[in-house]
Amino acid sequence: MIRIAGGEKLAGTVQISGAKNAALPAIIASLLTTKPVVLHNVPHLADVETAVTLVQALGKEVRWRGRTMEIRGGEELHPEAPAELVQRMRASFLALGPLLARAKRAKVPLPGGCALGPRPVDFHLYGLARLGARITFANGAVLAEAKFLRGTSVYLDFPSVGATEQLLLAGTLAEGETVIINPAREPEVADLAELLRKMGAEVRWDTDRVTIRGRRELEGAEHTLIPDRIETGTYLLAGAITGGKVRAENVEPQHLAALLDRLSLAGCEIEVGKAWVELIGPRRPKPVDFRTWPYPGFPTDLQPPMVAFLALAEGRSTITETVYAARFGHVEPLLQMGAKIQVSGSVQVVDGVEGLRPAAVEATDIRAGAALVLAALAANGVSHVRGEQHIRRGYENMVEKLRALGARVWEEED
Ligand code: UD1
Repeated sequence: MIRIAGGEKLAGTVQISGAKNAALPAIIASLLTTKPVVLHNVPHLADVETAVTLVQALGKEVRWRGRTMEIRGGEELHPEAPAELVQRMRASFLALGPLLARAKRAKVPLPGGCALGPRPVDFHLYGLARLGARITFANGAVLAEAKFLRGTSVYLDFPSVGATEQLLLAGTLAEGETVIINPAREPEVADLAELLRKMGAEVRWDTDRVTIRGRRELEGAEHTLIPDRIETGTYLLAGAITGGKVRAENVEPQHLAALLDRLSLAGCEIEVGKAWVELIGPRRPKPVDFRTWPYPGFPTDLQPPMVAFLALAEGRSTITETVYAARFGHVEPLLQMGAKIQVSGSVQVVDGVEGLRPAAVEATDIRAGAALVLAALAANGVSHVRGEQHIRRGYENMVEKLRALGARVWEEED
C-alpha cells in the first residue's frame, strides 16, 4: 500500500516514461516475425512483464538492456496462450491474431469482465472471422483456425483500440488489403502502425479508415515508443490538485489537447513546449463539464483522476463516461474522503467541496488508483491507498516520481 501525507503543493519536474498502451501491442507484434524486434523507451511495469511472459510462453526470447528490449526467435510458435496471463491482463488477447496468422491455429482464453464492467471481444472476433478465420469456443477459450487470412473490409461498430490493433496485426500477414472502417485513432494505435510499417507492412490512414496491405513475411525493426500521455496527464493533475507547479518532460503535448483544454477551463495556467508541458494549479478549480470519447476526445483513462481534481472545484461539474459501461471504481473511495459525487447511469455529478479528508481507501483498478493517490495528495493528513499492485500495472516508479516533486509518499507492507 501507499502512505501519503497530503497537503503539500507539488513542485518540480517529472520525466515521463514510454507508453504502456504502446508497449503492450508492440511486444505482441514481435510474434509476427522471426527477425529481431528492438524497442526503446519501454517502461518497467507489471503489465509489460506480463506481455514479456506471454511472448516467452509462445516461443520468443526477450532481453532487456535498460529501457531497451530485444525480442527474437520464435521460428516455431506455441499457439496456445496461458489462461493465467490473459486473466491478469486483457491486452494478452491481442496475441490471437498474430498467432493465427503465423501458426494457422490459435487458442486464447476469453478475458472476461473486469473492474470497469463487461468488456467483450466481439469486435475482435468479428473482424478475424471476416478475414477468414473459423472461430469456435471451448472451455472458456477462443479457438481460431485459418489456412490463410484474406484481406477484406471490416466495419467497427465502435472505434475500439483493441479490435483495431488486433486487425492491424492480423492484416499484416493477410493476403491482399484489409480495410478497417471506423478504426481507433489513439496515438498508441498509430504507434503500432508505425512499428508495423518499419516491419515491412504497408499501412495507410485515410479520414475514416485504415488500409493494411499484407505481406508473406515481416522483417525485424527498431522502434522508440511514444511517451505515456495518461501518465503525463496524471502528473499534471497532481500539480493541479495540490495548487502546485509541475513540469512534465519527454512528452508529446499534441496527444494531450482535450485534457489541457479542460484543465485551462478549470483555471490552470499551462505552458507548452516541444516536448514538455508546465502547469500551475489554481487555488481551487472552476467546475468543468466533459465527456470521455475516443481520441482525440477526452481519454477515459484520465476520467477518474480528473474527477478527483474536480471534487475540489468551486461548483458543480458534470462528467459523462461514454467509453465504458461502469468506470466508477474511484467514486466510493472518493466519497469516503469527503467528495460529493452522484452517479446516475453514465453521468457523474460532482459538487465541489473545499477540502478532502485523509482516509484509508482501496484501489480496484489502475486509474481509480491514480485518482485516489491524487485525492490523498490534496487531503491534509495521512491517507493509505491499498491495492498498489493495480497502480504498478500502469505507473513506473510512481512513489519515486511523486517524491521528486516534493510529495511525502511511502510504500508500506499492508
Ligand atoms: C484500450 C486501453 C485502455 C483504454 C481503452 C479505451 C490498452 C492496453 N488499453 O483498451 O487503457 O481505457 O483502450 O481508450 O491499450 N468493446 C466491445 N467489443 C470489443 C471491444 C471493445 O464492446 O470487441 C467495448 C469495450 O467493452 C469498451 C469499449 O468498447 O466499453 C472500448 O474498448 P477498447 O477501445 O477496445 O479498449 P481496450 O483496447 O480494451
